[in-house]
Amino acid sequence: MKFFRTKKPLKILFIGSEAAPFAKVGGLASVMYSLPKALSRLGHDARVMIPRYLSIDPTQYELSMVREHLKVPTKNEKGESHLICNVKLFTPKKDEDPVCTYFLENQEYYEQRANVYGYMDDPVRWLLLCRGALEFLQTSDWKPDIIVGADWQTGYISNLLRTEYKNSTVLSKVTSVLAIHNMYHQGMFDHKFVQEMDYDDGHSMLPALEDPRLNKINALRRGIMHSDAIVTVSPNYAKEILTKEYGEMLDELLRERRAVLTGILNGIDYDLWNPENDPYVAHHFDKNNLEARTKNKKELQERFRLNVDKDAFIVSIVSRLTRQKGFDLLYPIMDTLMRELPIQFVVLGEGEGDLMGFFHDLETRYAGRVATHLKYDPVLPHIVLAGTDAVLVPSRFEPCGLTQLEAMRMGAIPIARKTGGIADSVIDYNPNKEIGTGFVFENFDSSSLMIAFIRAFENHRSKKQWQELQKRAMEEDFSWDSSAKKYTEFFERAIVFHNRNQQK
Ligand code: GLC
Repeated sequence: MKFFRTKKPLKILFIGSEAAPFAKVGGLASVMYSLPKALSRLGHDARVMIPRYLSIDPTQYELSMVREHLKVPTKNEKGESHLICNVKLFTPKKDEDPVCTYFLENQEYYEQRANVYGYMDDPVRWLLLCRGALEFLQTSDWKPDIIVGADWQTGYISNLLRTEYKNSTVLSKVTSVLAIHNMYHQGMFDHKFVQEMDYDDGHSMLPALEDPRLNKINALRRGIMHSDAIVTVSPNYAKEILTKEYGEMLDELLRERRAVLTGILNGIDYDLWNPENDPYVAHHFDKNNLEARTKNKKELQERFRLNVDKDAFIVSIVSRLTRQKGFDLLYPIMDTLMRELPIQFVVLGEGEGDLMGFFHDLETRYAGRVATHLKYDPVLPHIVLAGTDAVLVPSRFEPCGLTQLEAMRMGAIPIARKTGGIADSVIDYNPNKEIGTGFVFENFDSSSLMIAFIRAFENHRSKKQWQELQKRAMEEDFSWDSSAKKYTEFFERAIVFHNRNQQK
């Protein structure tokens, strides 16, 4: 009986802080767009819920009102009260549209905020999303079998389900999954420097919305403790976070919960990333016709005002510019690389001031050889990856990493550090065995990066070998379809865990 039940199509609600194309800061938004779509292709009913930020225009997306005046309980200086929210719905019309997406509206916390992150009251904003979603689901016609929350922002969900909503006839049936896209962020404080008095062991009652004690709650810890099952975005990261080095002080807890923890490699959307018909790419190509790429290289050089030189080795960065990504490894070696090798550099991304300053300074000093666009852009990655020879991904840690996957699909070769999902997706080049899809280094230090860089440069000189390498990289399958099947199996296991927990 149970077997039959778990094999029917599932109703899955993804809840998170960002989802493309509505609100995108990083890789999370891409996954929130393409994984639900891939699951829908398998016959499941997958939907998404995010807040409606100021930047999301209800008219442009033709959002319809599905719940007006949703009362979400809160407690503030004045005592018990409510926050009033609405829920609006985006309904897909074309194949390439996102799946059905719910938007939680609240004037004060979302509609007046231009950015996704970075407010002092973020914990209230995320708890409101979690509570708002649960309050909405209690009485909505559509009821999910599974809720998948993304990262610390949704860690409150499973906690609420286990406590305040545990007797709800609707919600007690819902399986809760925490998807970890990044362990580093755990709340509004630096988890590495929490004072003993402020330490959240995860067992106390969750404070009400707008209660100042909310700031001290470690929402990621709570999500890990209370979810029925946990998934991370690559198998290797799922192993790494059990160690002190990568566990961000939650490794012990994760080791306790390892029986319900799985890692599934992210995919990329093969319709969005297709060198044969990419609307942003001037000259289409495939693995057997790589000559057209040379024309894209020229386009790239012209567009970024680099010297037009078909033999130059172009290395690009397409990334958020944060400490996680490891670009500070370039600080001591960049001038040597520029001086000794005929290379060009393209930097595309936005982030921390010191990294942006470093690249901006390089651009000034090496005009014609270094070019930057230090702002997030949805189109330029396509143009860069279709023309660059290599991409640099020297991450300190990398739960999955999407750039290396997108790069390989576009015939750009990763120079990348063997960590997290990179270890699961890039194979180090070995010319003798004729294997490999990139240049991989292990130790997080500038010399190791430099050696990988020089290996890539040297091998680029042999056109034939480089093309073989590109061909192998392009032949790898990083489409969502196989990962979506793994998610289905994982969800079926999660339901079994949930049923077991309910019987306890
Ligand atoms: C986060 C991680 C990144 C991952 C992305 C999508 O941004 O840092 O490694 O690819 O989420 O899961």
